[in-house]
Amino acid sequence: MNKRLLVTGGAGYIGTHTLVELIENGFSPVVLDNFSNSCPESIRRVEEITGSKIEVFEGDICSSSDLAAVFDHAKATGEIFDAVIHFAGLKAVGESVAQPLRYYETNVGGTLALLKAMDTYGVRNIVFSSSATVYGVPIRLPYDEGHPISPTNPYGWTKAISERVLEDWANTGEGRSAVCLRYFNPIGAHPSGRIGEDPRDTPNNLFPFITQVAVGKRPFLSVFGNDYDTVDGTGVRDYVHVVDLACGHVKAVEFGFTSEGFSAFNLGTGKGTSVLELKHAFEQATQAAVRHEFKARRPGDIAAAFASVQLAEQSLGWRAKKSIDDMCIDGWRWQSSNPDGYTAFAESADQRNT
Ligand code: NAD
Ligand code: UFG
Repeated sequence: MNKRLLVTGGAGYIGTHTLVELIENGFSPVVLDNFSNSCPESIRRVEEITGSKIEVFEGDICSSSDLAAVFDHAKATGEIFDAVIHFAGLKAVGESVAQPLRYYETNVGGTLALLKAMDTYGVRNIVFSSSATVYGVPIRLPYDEGHPISPTNPYGWTKAISERVLEDWANTGEGRSAVCLRYFNPIGAHPSGRIGEDPRDTPNNLFPFITQVAVGKRPFLSVFGNDYDTVDGTGVRDYVHVVDLACGHVKAVEFGFTSEGFSAFNLGTGKGTSVLELKHAFEQATQAAVRHEFKARRPGDIAAAFASVQLAEQSLGWRAKKSIDDMCIDGWRWQSSNPDGYTAFAESADQRNT
């Protein structure tokens, strides 16, 4: 029988791409999402890509009754979940500085509520969305998993604290497994162009901003700082194709079934790319123009961040395969064929249903 997985936050950017890879690898995912930063149309698109119907529960990971409804239903209709992949959470660094309690409540409180529900129903495997931001200012690069944990913002602390909770939970000697995946900078979209990143407001991140300038939604890209000690003075990051990242989750779930205790892995390519290099690669790959203006450094930014990828390769058997060109071409296919994201399609679907 196919392994059943609960995927919290499965309607979001990384969640939808992971659902596709899970289904294509024979898993049966069930989604719990409150659609606070997504919409049901994204799941419908995953169903279209995979040809599989996905069971979706609308609910909040912080609500013990919403969680109980999902776990009860799973128990009543067959097997309880073999594992959980926990994406649900809030992710905007700037917003976390302005609203720290909301971030701790959702990201840490949500993780606690989920683990309690897992304990109640005897689910012992979890894969958690962590972030390279847990490392903070680099004392060495590339960041290896043993680099000190020292986030510089509340969002980063919610991830670091959740990791700590997961470590203590997994180390009780009761056969539990927690695998934390520290993502670097996921960009791009599924090659079908049917699912992709769909920021609700002005994008905070570089790649969606580039694609929105290219599609004519924004006049120019502000490049935050051109005086860093990097190849061209602009910030360097480790961009990883979201489909590669999604494949990393399949490997992490499989790893969790054969391991006990806590582990953490970087998911990146190991290669750094500057803001101007990414903009140039995007223009070359897509023939779309992106005007830019240099602005002051963004507060809290670091010059460079990229991953050591050996541990994920050795332990998970995972390595990113896709190039920056793939990321640009696939990301552009999504943005240019869905200039308003899922919204326009979701509204017309709603109208059809009324
Ligand atoms: P996303 O916002 O697209 O997806 C998150 C999903 O969780 C959304 O569908 C949202 O509706 C849902 N959600 C939020 N709060 C919820 C709640 N209380 N209950 C139920 N559902 C809730 O984000 P993403 O980019 O797909 O990120 C997924 C995870 O990966 C997040 O935990 C994020 O912090 C982490 N992460 C993302 C990045 C990145 O650059 N995208 C980098 C590092 C880590
Ligand atoms: N940048 C610009 N202009 C923009 C946006 C970004 O020049 O409009 C620059 C930034 O200064 C930085 C680089 O592009 O040098 C990348 O910035 P992003 O905001 O895309 O990514 P960050 O590395 O700053 O942060 C992201 C997520 C975090 C996550 C981190 C590591 O926002 O949540 O990656 O995974 F923790």
